[in-house]
Amino acid sequence: MASPTYTLPPLPYAYDALEPVISKQIMELHHQKHHQTYITNLNAALAAQAAAVQTNNVARLISLQQKIKFNGGGHINHSLFWRNLTPPGSKEAIMNADAAPALYGAITERWGSLEAFIEAFKAALLGIQGSGWGWLVSKGGPNARLDIVTTKDQDPITEPDVPIFGIDMWEHAYYLQYLNNKAGYVTEIWKVINWVIAEERYTNGISAKIDGLKAAI
Ligand SMILES: [Fe+2]
Repeated sequence: MASPTYTLPPLPYAYDALEPVISKQIMELHHQKHHQTYITNLNAALAAQAAAVQTNNVARLISLQQKIKFNGGGHINHSLFWRNLTPPGSKEAIMNADAAPALYGAITERWGSLEAFIEAFKAALLGIQGSGWGWLVSKGGPNARLDIVTTKDQDPITEPDVPIFGIDMWEHAYYLQYLNNKAGYVTEIWKVINWVIAEERYTNGISAKIDGLKAAI
């Protein structure tokens, strides 16, 4: 059986739409080069896996697992990340009890206030050693307890947890603009979080109906 072939999903906004928070240069490289490379390598690993299945080459299958995890995770995480973001000043970037009632209520219940949640999230992001991601997850499915978690390299959030949104903490996500000012990046990123998508993921989980993710990955 032929393995699936994945393609780069288009951004839901222009490359310069997130300026001044994230530069056009970063977005172009991040999307066209970094995300594309994960997809290219995932497709190659899946094709090699399909060939190994045909020949019952178990040793080869085992050797491919890390490549599939890393590059498949990279594709999943970036597909989620692009939809996490929205131009600064857009109505999707507003977070309050009216804009995202279910998620706002859950966040304030869990952390006391939106500000306290953001401070806790920033601390988690700055605590990541090396490359990784910070996530707001719904533990155990939609409408369940919220938590802030980090993952190493390109490890994705897996079921039953639902990633409400994630923040890419690889240097390729910010270094060309923020240089070593990682704290500046994790402070500014809140201006471009898409809370409409976050609310939908919190209330409905990840589905093709919500943001086409399952079709994309
Ligand atoms: Fe990235």
